[in-house]
Amino acid sequence: MQFQWYPGHMTKAKRAMQEDLKLIDVIIELVDARVPFSSKNPDIDQLANGKSRIIILNKYDLADAECTSSWMKYYEEKGYFVTKVNAKSGAGVKAVNDVIQKACQEKIERDRKRGILNRPIRAMIVGIPNVGKSTFINSFAKKACTKTGNKPGVTKGKQWIRLNKNVELLDTPGILWPKFEDQAIGLRLAFIGSIKDELYNIYELSILLLEYLNEHYPDSVSSFYQITSEQVPSSQLEAIAKRRGCVKSGGMLDVDKAAKCFVDDFRAGKLGAISLEQVNQ
Ligand code: G4P
Repeated sequence: MQFQWYPGHMTKAKRAMQEDLKLIDVIIELVDARVPFSSKNPDIDQLANGKSRIIILNKYDLADAECTSSWMKYYEEKGYFVTKVNAKSGAGVKAVNDVIQKACQEKIERDRKRGILNRPIRAMIVGIPNVGKSTFINSFAKKACTKTGNKPGVTKGKQWIRLNKNVELLDTPGILWPKFEDQAIGLRLAFIGSIKDELYNIYELSILLLEYLNEHYPDSVSSFYQITSEQVPSSQLEAIAKRRGCVKSGGMLDVDKAAKCFVDDFRAGKLGAISLEQVNQ
Protein backbone atom coordinates (compact mmCIF):
# COMPACT_ATOMS: atom_id res chain seq x y z
CA MET A 1 0.00 0.00 0.00
CA GLN A 2 1.44 3.39 -1.00
CA PHE A 3 0.78 6.58 0.96
CA GLN A 4 0.97 10.06 -0.43
CA TRP A 5 1.48 13.10 1.69
CA TYR A 6 1.11 16.69 0.56
CA PRO A 7 3.38 18.90 2.66
CA GLY A 8 1.59 21.94 1.19
CA HIS A 9 -1.20 21.34 3.69
CA MET A 10 1.23 21.86 6.48
CA THR A 11 3.19 24.85 5.20
CA LYS A 12 1.03 27.43 6.94
CA ALA A 13 0.97 25.50 10.21
CA LYS A 14 4.74 25.11 10.08
CA ARG A 15 5.31 28.83 9.59
CA ALA A 16 2.98 29.70 12.47
CA MET A 17 4.74 27.23 14.70
CA GLN A 18 8.19 28.58 13.84
CA GLU A 19 7.00 32.03 14.93
CA ASP A 20 5.66 30.64 18.21
CA LEU A 21 8.87 28.72 18.84
CA LYS A 22 10.75 32.01 19.09
CA LEU A 23 8.84 32.73 22.30
CA ILE A 24 9.44 29.35 23.85
CA ASP A 25 12.04 27.92 26.25
CA VAL A 26 10.81 24.34 26.46
CA ILE A 27 9.14 22.23 23.79
CA ILE A 28 6.77 19.51 24.90
CA GLU A 29 6.24 17.02 22.10
CA LEU A 30 3.25 14.72 22.38
CA VAL A 31 3.58 11.34 20.72
CA ASP A 32 1.12 8.46 20.59
CA ALA A 33 2.22 5.76 23.04
CA ARG A 34 1.20 3.03 20.56
CA VAL A 35 3.67 4.39 17.99
CA PRO A 36 6.20 6.52 19.90
CA PHE A 37 8.65 6.48 17.02
CA SER A 38 6.36 6.88 14.00
CA SER A 39 4.32 9.66 15.60
CA LYS A 40 7.42 11.71 16.38
CA ASN A 41 8.43 14.25 13.77
CA PRO A 42 12.22 14.27 13.35
CA ASP A 43 12.25 17.78 11.82
CA ILE A 44 11.32 19.31 15.14
CA ASP A 45 14.83 18.44 16.37
CA GLN A 46 16.30 21.10 14.05
CA LEU A 47 13.58 23.66 14.75
CA ALA A 48 14.00 23.13 18.48
CA ASN A 49 17.69 23.87 18.42
CA GLY A 50 18.96 24.71 21.91
CA LYS A 51 15.63 24.48 23.73
CA SER A 52 14.79 22.10 26.56
CA ARG A 53 12.89 19.08 25.31
CA ILE A 54 10.16 16.99 26.85
CA ILE A 55 8.47 14.00 25.25
CA ILE A 56 5.07 12.91 26.53
CA LEU A 57 3.73 9.51 25.54
CA ASN A 58 0.01 10.19 25.41
CA LYS A 59 -2.79 7.58 25.21
CA TYR A 60 -0.78 5.17 27.31
CA ASP A 61 -4.09 3.54 28.23
CA LEU A 62 -4.20 2.16 24.67
CA ALA A 63 -0.59 0.92 24.56
CA ASP A 64 1.21 -2.14 25.86
CA ALA A 65 2.65 -1.10 29.26
CA GLU A 66 5.90 -2.98 28.78
CA CYS A 67 6.54 -1.36 25.38
CA THR A 68 5.72 2.05 26.83
CA SER A 69 8.37 1.61 29.55
CA SER A 70 10.97 0.61 26.97
CA TRP A 71 10.17 3.63 24.81
CA MET A 72 10.37 5.98 27.79
CA LYS A 73 13.82 4.63 28.56
CA TYR A 74 14.81 4.91 24.89
CA TYR A 75 14.00 8.63 24.79
CA GLU A 76 15.51 9.30 28.21
CA GLU A 77 18.77 7.82 26.99
CA LYS A 78 18.63 10.23 24.07
CA GLY A 79 18.55 13.15 26.51
CA TYR A 80 14.85 14.01 26.60
CA PHE A 81 12.80 14.47 29.74
CA VAL A 82 10.05 11.89 29.37
CA THR A 83 6.68 11.08 30.92
CA LYS A 84 3.42 9.34 29.98
CA VAL A 85 -0.16 10.52 30.30
CA ASN A 86 -3.75 9.63 29.52
CA ALA A 87 -4.96 13.08 28.54
CA LYS A 88 -8.52 11.81 28.24
CA SER A 89 -8.83 10.64 31.84
CA GLY A 90 -6.26 13.11 33.18
CA ALA A 91 -3.98 10.36 34.56
CA GLY A 92 -0.38 11.57 34.78
CA VAL A 93 -1.23 15.10 33.67
CA LYS A 94 -0.50 16.83 36.96
CA ALA A 95 2.97 15.26 37.14
CA VAL A 96 3.92 17.04 33.91
CA ASN A 97 4.41 20.16 36.01
CA ASP A 98 7.35 18.53 37.80
CA VAL A 99 8.86 17.34 34.54
CA ILE A 100 8.74 20.88 33.15
CA GLN A 101 10.37 22.12 36.32
CA LYS A 102 13.18 19.58 35.98
CA ALA A 103 13.65 20.26 32.27
CA CYS A 104 13.98 23.98 32.97
CA GLN A 105 16.14 23.78 36.06
CA GLU A 106 19.30 24.84 34.25
CA LYS A 107 17.60 27.77 32.57
CA ILE A 108 16.07 28.97 35.84
CA GLU A 109 19.52 28.76 37.47
CA ARG A 110 21.15 30.61 34.58
CA ASP A 111 18.55 33.39 34.73
CA ARG A 112 18.94 33.62 38.49
CA LYS A 113 22.72 34.06 38.22
CA ARG A 114 22.16 36.86 35.70
CA GLY A 115 19.79 38.54 38.13
CA ILE A 116 16.66 37.71 36.08
CA LEU A 117 14.25 36.57 38.73
CA ASN A 118 10.69 36.90 37.57
CA ARG A 119 10.75 35.88 33.93
CA PRO A 120 8.57 32.80 33.60
CA ILE A 121 9.66 29.83 31.58
CA ARG A 122 7.48 29.46 28.48
CA ALA A 123 6.41 26.07 27.20
CA MET A 124 4.57 24.90 24.11
CA ILE A 125 2.87 21.67 23.09
CA VAL A 126 3.64 20.29 19.63
CA GLY A 127 2.69 17.08 17.85
CA ILE A 128 1.25 15.56 14.70
CA PRO A 129 -2.54 15.62 14.20
CA ASN A 130 -4.66 13.45 16.48
CA VAL A 131 -2.03 12.67 19.14
CA GLY A 132 -4.22 14.42 21.72
CA LYS A 133 -2.75 17.94 21.90
CA SER A 134 -6.05 19.75 22.50
CA THR A 135 -7.26 17.14 24.97
CA PHE A 136 -3.99 17.44 26.87
CA ILE A 137 -4.01 21.25 26.98
CA ASN A 138 -7.62 21.26 28.23
CA SER A 139 -6.85 18.72 30.89
CA PHE A 140 -3.66 20.49 31.95
CA ALA A 141 -5.38 23.88 32.04
CA LYS A 142 -8.15 22.52 34.27
CA LYS A 143 -5.76 20.85 36.68
CA ALA A 144 -3.10 23.46 36.89
CA CYS A 145 -4.16 26.96 36.69
CA THR A 146 -5.67 30.06 35.20
CA LYS A 147 -5.21 31.66 31.84
CA THR A 148 -3.09 34.78 31.89
CA GLY A 149 -4.81 36.52 28.98
CA ASN A 150 -3.20 38.44 26.16
CA LYS A 151 0.03 40.23 26.74
CA PRO A 152 0.18 42.96 24.15
CA GLY A 153 3.62 43.69 22.75
CA VAL A 154 5.78 40.72 23.56
CA THR A 155 3.24 38.01 22.93
CA LYS A 156 0.57 39.76 20.93
CA GLY A 157 -2.61 37.77 20.51
CA LYS A 158 -1.32 34.78 22.43
CA GLN A 159 -3.05 33.17 25.34
CA TRP A 160 -0.85 31.73 28.02
CA ILE A 161 -1.82 29.34 30.74
CA ARG A 162 -0.01 29.95 33.99
CA LEU A 163 1.03 26.61 35.44
CA ASN A 164 2.76 28.01 38.52
CA LYS A 165 4.83 31.05 39.38
CA ASN A 166 7.68 29.95 37.10
CA VAL A 167 6.01 28.39 34.07
CA GLU A 168 3.55 29.44 31.38
CA LEU A 169 2.12 27.25 28.62
CA LEU A 170 1.02 28.57 25.24
CA ASP A 171 -2.60 27.51 24.88
CA THR A 172 -2.43 26.77 21.14
CA PRO A 173 -0.48 23.69 20.10
CA GLY A 174 1.99 23.55 17.24
CA ILE A 175 0.88 21.14 14.57
CA LEU A 176 3.68 19.00 13.20
CA TRP A 177 3.47 17.07 9.96
CA PRO A 178 3.84 13.32 9.97
CA LYS A 179 7.01 12.16 8.29
CA PHE A 180 6.89 8.97 6.37
CA GLU A 181 9.29 8.45 3.55
CA ASP A 182 9.28 5.00 5.09
CA GLN A 183 6.03 3.22 4.17
CA ALA A 184 6.07 1.23 7.42
CA ILE A 185 5.71 4.51 9.32
CA GLY A 186 2.81 5.58 7.09
CA LEU A 187 1.12 2.27 7.72
CA ARG A 188 1.37 2.55 11.50
CA LEU A 189 -0.01 6.08 11.38
CA ALA A 190 -2.91 4.80 9.27
CA PHE A 191 -3.56 2.05 11.83
CA ILE A 192 -4.01 4.60 14.61
CA GLY A 193 -6.07 6.95 12.43
CA SER A 194 -3.59 9.79 11.99
CA ILE A 195 -3.83 9.69 8.20
CA LYS A 196 -6.99 10.66 6.35
CA ASP A 197 -9.15 7.61 5.58
CA GLU A 198 -9.35 8.53 1.89
CA LEU A 199 -5.62 7.89 1.50
CA TYR A 200 -5.82 4.14 1.93
CA ASN A 201 -7.96 1.14 1.22
CA ILE A 202 -9.68 0.04 4.41
CA TYR A 203 -9.81 -3.65 3.42
CA GLU A 204 -6.06 -3.79 2.74
CA LEU A 205 -5.36 -1.83 5.91
CA SER A 206 -7.40 -4.23 8.03
CA ILE A 207 -5.66 -7.26 6.53
CA LEU A 208 -2.25 -5.76 7.38
CA LEU A 209 -3.40 -4.91 10.91
CA LEU A 210 -4.69 -8.46 11.39
CA GLU A 211 -1.31 -9.81 10.24
CA TYR A 212 0.46 -7.65 12.80
CA LEU A 213 -1.91 -8.63 15.62
CA ASN A 214 -1.68 -12.33 14.75
CA GLU A 215 2.08 -12.10 15.08
CA HIS A 216 2.35 -9.94 18.19
CA TYR A 217 -0.97 -10.29 20.06
CA PRO A 218 -2.29 -13.63 18.76
CA ASP A 219 -5.40 -13.90 20.95
CA SER A 220 -6.58 -10.30 20.80
CA VAL A 221 -8.89 -10.68 17.78
CA SER A 222 -10.42 -14.07 18.60
CA SER A 223 -11.13 -13.19 22.19
CA PHE A 224 -12.72 -9.81 21.50
CA TYR A 225 -14.97 -11.02 18.66
CA GLN A 226 -15.38 -14.50 20.10
CA ILE A 227 -14.42 -16.17 16.85
CA THR A 228 -12.21 -19.21 16.36
CA SER A 229 -8.54 -18.44 16.77
CA GLU A 230 -7.50 -19.22 13.22
CA GLN A 231 -4.88 -16.91 11.77
CA VAL A 232 -5.81 -16.23 8.14
CA PRO A 233 -6.68 -12.53 7.94
CA SER A 234 -9.23 -12.77 5.11
CA SER A 235 -11.15 -15.53 6.95
CA GLN A 236 -10.91 -13.60 10.21
CA LEU A 237 -12.50 -10.64 8.50
CA GLU A 238 -15.34 -12.80 7.20
CA ALA A 239 -15.87 -14.16 10.70
CA ILE A 240 -15.97 -10.59 12.05
CA ALA A 241 -18.49 -9.66 9.32
CA LYS A 242 -20.73 -12.57 10.38
CA ARG A 243 -20.39 -11.81 14.06
CA ARG A 244 -21.20 -8.13 13.50
CA GLY A 245 -23.98 -8.78 11.00
CA CYS A 246 -22.21 -6.93 8.18
CA VAL A 247 -24.22 -8.08 5.14
CA LYS A 248 -25.09 -6.45 1.85
CA SER A 249 -28.65 -6.31 0.47
CA GLY A 250 -28.32 -9.62 -1.45
CA GLY A 251 -27.20 -11.36 1.75
CA MET A 252 -23.49 -11.34 0.85
CA LEU A 253 -21.00 -10.55 3.60
CA ASP A 254 -19.88 -6.92 3.59
CA VAL A 255 -16.19 -7.33 4.37
CA ASP A 256 -15.41 -3.64 3.78
CA LYS A 257 -17.88 -2.72 6.49
CA ALA A 258 -16.38 -5.38 8.75
CA ALA A 259 -12.91 -3.99 8.00
CA LYS A 260 -14.00 -0.50 9.06
CA CYS A 261 -15.63 -1.90 12.19
CA PHE A 262 -12.49 -3.85 13.10
CA VAL A 263 -10.11 -0.91 12.57
CA ASP A 264 -12.41 1.37 14.63
CA ASP A 265 -12.52 -1.21 17.43
CA PHE A 266 -8.73 -1.40 17.40
CA ARG A 267 -8.37 2.40 17.48
CA ALA A 268 -10.77 2.65 20.41
CA GLY A 269 -8.67 0.15 22.38
CA LYS A 270 -11.39 -2.53 22.44
CA LEU A 271 -8.95 -5.24 21.39
CA GLY A 272 -6.74 -4.52 24.38
CA ALA A 273 -3.69 -2.41 25.15
CA ILE A 274 -1.60 -2.87 22.03
CA SER A 275 1.61 -1.24 20.81
CA LEU A 276 2.47 -1.14 17.14
CA GLU A 277 6.22 -0.73 17.40
CA GLN A 278 8.93 -2.09 19.64
CA VAL A 279 12.19 -0.36 20.56
CA ASN A 280 14.46 -3.03 19.13
CA GLN A 281 12.82 -3.45 15.73
P1 G4P B 1 -5.03 16.78 18.46
O1 G4P B 1 -5.39 18.08 19.14
O2 G4P B 1 -3.61 16.39 18.67
O3 G4P B 1 -5.38 16.73 17.00
O4 G4P B 1 -5.88 15.60 19.17
P2 G4P B 1 -7.22 15.69 20.04
O5 G4P B 1 -6.94 16.32 21.36
O6 G4P B 1 -8.31 16.24 19.22
O7 G4P B 1 -7.48 14.13 20.32
C1 G4P B 1 -7.70 13.21 19.27
C2 G4P B 1 -8.50 12.04 19.79
O8 G4P B 1 -7.72 11.30 20.76
C3 G4P B 1 -9.80 12.41 20.52
O9 G4P B 1 -10.74 11.38 20.25
C4 G4P B 1 -9.40 12.33 21.98
O10 G4P B 1 -10.51 12.10 22.84
C5 G4P B 1 -8.47 11.14 21.96
N1 G4P B 1 -7.51 11.12 23.08
C6 G4P B 1 -6.68 12.12 23.47
N2 G4P B 1 -5.91 11.73 24.49
C7 G4P B 1 -6.25 10.44 24.76
C8 G4P B 1 -5.77 9.46 25.72
O11 G4P B 1 -4.84 9.70 26.50
N3 G4P B 1 -6.37 8.24 25.65
C9 G4P B 1 -7.36 7.93 24.78
N4 G4P B 1 -7.87 6.71 24.81
N5 G4P B 1 -7.81 8.82 23.87
C10 G4P B 1 -7.27 10.05 23.86
P3 G4P B 1 -11.95 11.59 19.31
O12 G4P B 1 -12.57 10.27 19.10
O13 G4P B 1 -11.51 12.37 18.11
O14 G4P B 1 -12.86 12.51 20.15
P4 G4P B 1 -13.74 12.14 21.45
O15 G4P B 1 -14.95 11.49 20.89
O16 G4P B 1 -12.94 11.22 22.32
O17 G4P B 1 -13.98 13.46 22.06
